[in-house]
Amino acid sequence: MTAATATTTKQWKKQEDKVTEEHAQVIHKPDDTTQVLKRLLTYMTADEAKGKFTVAMILRVLALFGLSILPGFTGKAIDVITVNGAESELQKWVFLALAAGALYLLLSLGADRLFADLATRASYKLQKHLFSHMQLLSLSFFDRHGRGELMSRLTNDSEVIALFYESVVIQIIRALVQIVLAFAVMLFIDWRLMIVASLIVPAMLIVMYISNRIAGPAFAKLQQDLSDLSGFQEESLSGMKVIISNRRQDWADEKHTHMAATVFDVGSKAFFTSLLQYPLTQSFTYMGIVTVLVVGGLMVMSDNIALGTVIAFSGYVGLLAKPVSTISNLMGTAFNGIAGGRRVFSIIDAEPEIVDDPDATDYEFKGGHIVLKDVDFSYIPGRKILRHNTFEVQPGESVGICGPTGAGKSTLINILTRYYDIDSGTILIDGQDLKKLTRDSLRTQIGVVLQEAFLFSDTVMNNLKYARKGATAEECIAAAKKANAHDFIMRLPQGYDTVLTERGASLSQGQRQMITIARAMVADPKLLILDEATSNVDTRTEKLIQEALGKLMEGKTSFSIAHRLATIRGSSWIMVMNGGVIVEMGPHDELMAKKGFYYALYMSQFKGKAPGGSEAASVDFVST
Ligand SMILES: Nc1ncnc2c1ncn2[C@@H]1O[C@H](COP(=O)(O)OP(=O)(O)OP(=O)(O)O)[C@@H](O)[C@H]1O
Ligand SMILES: [Mg+2]
Repeated sequence: MTAATATTTKQWKKQEDKVTEEHAQVIHKPDDTTQVLKRLLTYMTADEAKGKFTVAMILRVLALFGLSILPGFTGKAIDVITVNGAESELQKWVFLALAAGALYLLLSLGADRLFADLATRASYKLQKHLFSHMQLLSLSFFDRHGRGELMSRLTNDSEVIALFYESVVIQIIRALVQIVLAFAVMLFIDWRLMIVASLIVPAMLIVMYISNRIAGPAFAKLQQDLSDLSGFQEESLSGMKVIISNRRQDWADEKHTHMAATVFDVGSKAFFTSLLQYPLTQSFTYMGIVTVLVVGGLMVMSDNIALGTVIAFSGYVGLLAKPVSTISNLMGTAFNGIAGGRRVFSIIDAEPEIVDDPDATDYEFKGGHIVLKDVDFSYIPGRKILRHNTFEVQPGESVGICGPTGAGKSTLINILTRYYDIDSGTILIDGQDLKKLTRDSLRTQIGVVLQEAFLFSDTVMNNLKYARKGATAEECIAAAKKANAHDFIMRLPQGYDTVLTERGASLSQGQRQMITIARAMVADPKLLILDEATSNVDTRTEKLIQEALGKLMEGKTSFSIAHRLATIRGSSWIMVMNGGVIVEMGPHDELMAKKGFYYALYMSQFKGKAPGGSEAASVDFVST
């Protein structure tokens, strides 16, 4: 038993290591298997699950005790028959055997009911934990881990962990208890036959080890090929437009056929080796039974033992073989679950980089006065994006921000909203240090409208209500009207109840933008940030959006980033960025008169001339 467990653990570790090597993106500590296993188990056994788990275990042990004494009772019944004993004696043993069987059945039902509940709850709890934790993490975390990777944690890993709880834990507990009890009862009946019967354990372990050695790598390869295939399928579907427009359907189809063929090939080999396990287990079990009968028969002949006991032991061979094969069959699922657990925990253990200061206070709005003093910022340590940014915005001013691609405009917004913390310098909002403010209070007061309007796959109404807890339908409709969105929403098939497809793909970009503006109006923030909110729409829509934005910005301190300078021309003043540095600041007329960088940008847009053209001062566009 101890030997069996030791071998099992070793095999687990070995196979598990092999699989994790394939997920090289995960930092892998070679000897943390037991910790990950323990941690996974706590979701099923600790806290509020503790009581239920204890009851389930007690029921399981009692049920399997019933099963383990059953062969003993049948053996006794046989003994009564062989010595022509009293009928009442026979009835007694038959009755006890039946009672043990009934006990096993009833208590197993109870135990399984509880275990099923514990397993599903455990995987639900872990998934909930993972998702809630992701909500706490800073944006920089999402920069480092791609969407695909995180989706895989939420779906694939959660799935293998669910399987781990539902089949591995429940069945391995059952198998281990059964092995222990079978040994205990056998020892009680006859230790010599116990030794003979237990020969099945090492024999089974050897068979299982060999077949796992063959099937293990085959399944690992299959898993890899399957994930490549589904990756390709997903990519093709999301890039369907590109495939169709380039008339590459044939290419996609051919590649898919080729990949699917590999999967079938590898899959059929892997499944064949795993199918072989069944006949192998059966044959070894029968060989074990025959051994017990032969040795036991010889003992009966030398009058050492009753025939019933030998027959009982042939039953115990089966009771031992089954759980051993169960355990080794589940090894693959177990190490997959543990590897999944390790990856999920690596996210659960990630600390949010931006946390509220212990003595953080809520932001108190006092008109919207913003000061930046000598602010430096880098996303990646050592690669400075913003350098020495200093400026002051008076309450109610609208600030236009322009500059070439990569100049750091969106980055400036990211630090103002404290999605990222600055390296050095200070940011004061209404005299309060940004670092000392709670993020929640800050974000309820700052509204952000981005170029990439993000809408959820929900009704238009819910997308609007999402802006603020407790927003009413009337408020949302009023906001939509103000944002010039009401008319087109009413023209949608179900008006405000129309369910948008993924990210609002069924709407035009301008329509999505107008819903986002309406959403910002529902939120009614005190400060406003617009990042390229009007690009990529036709001039009529742009006018409608501009008008809506005008209403939204009225009297509020606001920042609007725009490449099309006409959009920000009317701002209180304009900030020009280049290479992470603020190169010019001032109202449009003043900047034009200066004939500097802004003038060059402006002229290039209006006269179709490149910056640095004959009329403009020569400037270099610097991306950070
Ligand atoms: N999450 C990020 N992690 C690392 N670097 C980033 C990240 N976001 C932006 N950068 C880098 O910061 C620099 C400034 O980017 P930013 O998005 O602020 O430019 P931008 O002025 O808004 O440009 P555009 O006009 O194209 O929107 C770029 O060099 C970009 O590569
Ligand atoms: Mg940008």
